[in-house]
Amino acid sequence: MNSKLTRPTILMCPPDYYGIEYEINPWMSRSRQSDPEQSREQWHALHSRLQTLDVDIRQLTPVQGLPDLVFTANAGFVFQNTVFLSRFRHEARQGETPVDAEWFSQAGFQTVEVPPDWSFEGAGDALFCGDTLFAGYLIRSDAGAMQWLAERIGCRVIPLQLVDDYYYHLDTCFCPVTPTTAIVYSPAFDVYARKALGEHIPNLIEVETEEARRFACNAVVVGRDVVLNDGCPQLERDLNSHGFRTHATPLGEFIKAGGSAKCLTLRLDGEDAAVWP
Ligand code: ARG
Repeated sequence: MNSKLTRPTILMCPPDYYGIEYEINPWMSRSRQSDPEQSREQWHALHSRLQTLDVDIRQLTPVQGLPDLVFTANAGFVFQNTVFLSRFRHEARQGETPVDAEWFSQAGFQTVEVPPDWSFEGAGDALFCGDTLFAGYLIRSDAGAMQWLAERIGCRVIPLQLVDDYYYHLDTCFCPVTPTTAIVYSPAFDVYARKALGEHIPNLIEVETEEARRFACNAVVVGRDVVLNDGCPQLERDLNSHGFRTHATPLGEFIKAGGSAKCLTLRLDGEDAAVWP
């Protein structure tokens, strides 16, 4: 846990300039625009829901021309008082990094850049489950960046190759909920990754295809509460039977950009499923 933060603390960015302005994943189509008013409503509903769970929400000021800045999960990877800033694969998002860097320095975090030869998309692709870093690579982040990150932190890393362009970030197909439990959509991983997940995580909650497409895996975990997109009743039932309360909230406007609840948040004090070395 980040020593200065005493409550679950999450970074969000209001969707003032959110829209589908380019196409960098198969969900995005400029001909299928998001509705500004609905986006605002959905974002505020997520924000309020997290507040009712006693989350301290910090806000990043939106910037015109950076429509995906709302997806704060990609600002970087937070470890204790350090943020490893993203180095985006696509030029369209590279303008976000100086904005994120500025916010983190102002907030008192040490900011670290990943070496320039690699792409790295922060908590979108790097997630702790227990004391192990699970790292999605190939589509957006490079495996080298993940190895480098794990060495800097001093933890074990399990690289997971992502094979389906619809599940281009690890957080679209994998979600740790406790140090020994994770939600997973296996078809998004190559055969070695599936095996590694099975070997390292005792309880895997498998999501069905239809719900994976509703971004079931892109859930926000706060203690025993899980906030996720609506339209995922099977996963809700599975989580309930594991002792979690679930809170479905519609985020369809953000799915148009390839994101949902988790992508719209960045936990600053350490995820509940993480046991930091
Ligand atoms: N349009 C954004 C992109 O393609 C969506 C990012 C969603 N973020 C996430 N952590 N999965 O980069």
